[in-house]
Amino acid sequence: MPRSPEETRHLFDRWASTYDEDLRQPSGPLDGYVQSLDVAVTLLPLAPNAAVLDIGIGTGAFAAMLATRGARIWGLDPSPEMLARCRALHPAFSLAVGSFSDIPHPDEWFDATAASFAFHEVPPGNRPAACAEVVRTLKPGGILCLLDIMFASSAAAAEARTRLGRYWDDQEEYPLVGDLDALLRDAGLRYTRWQQTAPCHWVGGRNPGTANAHAHQGYSSLSPPLGLTGSNRASCILEADSWSLRRAARPEGAAASKVRSSWRARRTTLLGNPASSATWTP
Ligand SMILES: C[S@@+](CC[C@H](N)C(=O)[O-])C[C@H]1O[C@@H](n2cnc3c(N)ncnc32)[C@H](O)[C@@H]1O
Repeated sequence: MPRSPEETRHLFDRWASTYDEDLRQPSGPLDGYVQSLDVAVTLLPLAPNAAVLDIGIGTGAFAAMLATRGARIWGLDPSPEMLARCRALHPAFSLAVGSFSDIPHPDEWFDATAASFAFHEVPPGNRPAACAEVVRTLKPGGILCLLDIMFASSAAAAEARTRLGRYWDDQEEYPLVGDLDALLRDAGLRYTRWQQTAPCHWVGGRNPGTANAHAHQGYSSLSPPLGLTGSNRASCILEADSWSLRRAARPEGAAASKVRSSWRARRTTLLGNPASSATWTP
């Protein structure tokens, strides 16, 4: 059963003092944490002095990488202890208690918004409002970079759960890429693009290439997935139609069938035209 927001806050308050040390050798769904941050930071083109919001900033690991590229950082987190640690490590950041659903800034305020490994903490019922709040505070043409534990399909999530065994956290509900994309689009985001960065991680958001007509860079010019295996890998998404059709005769839940049709409709938008997308094939 998922944790309540209150339980989540307590969890991170307790974890704050050892969080950075623990994430040096991550396991379970967070395996590949550092590699994923390294990839995600390259996806966010930032003008000098860009105003960047990091939601669920934690101890500031991702924001610190953005700050070294000249961004001015605002950070929100519901855990006062994570914020205290972040403040001690990064005194130049502007930090406040807050969450995806509660961004204390005016409309169209940020040049870019980032979030790493935090969105899955938003209870599923609150996710549409959370996406709307993120889009509300982003300038027109602003970039969103959302990195998290995510899966291409419910089958990929089930496979990861089996593979990770006791390392899987039953109190967390990880989004499906297609569902999150639909939520962001419903909230008003356009030109989205997604990239897998580790066995259980995807990063996505507004495609920087299409936000600016002259510079088609970023997500679409990335190198292939980094030696990833399993059905969560991007190449399997490209094959999702035939895979789904093969499975269509078997009984499966409404969620799986929703994802299947969602992927059929969105495949080209999310991953480009498979026929011309050589970087995404194995
Ligand atoms: C796994 S940590 C990630 C921290 C940091 N972004 C990083 O990459 O190291 C998740 C963070 O999300 C915060 N969080 C939990 N629920 C949240 C919510 N509803 N909105 C925003 N942040 C949340 C937690 O307090 C915690 O600091």
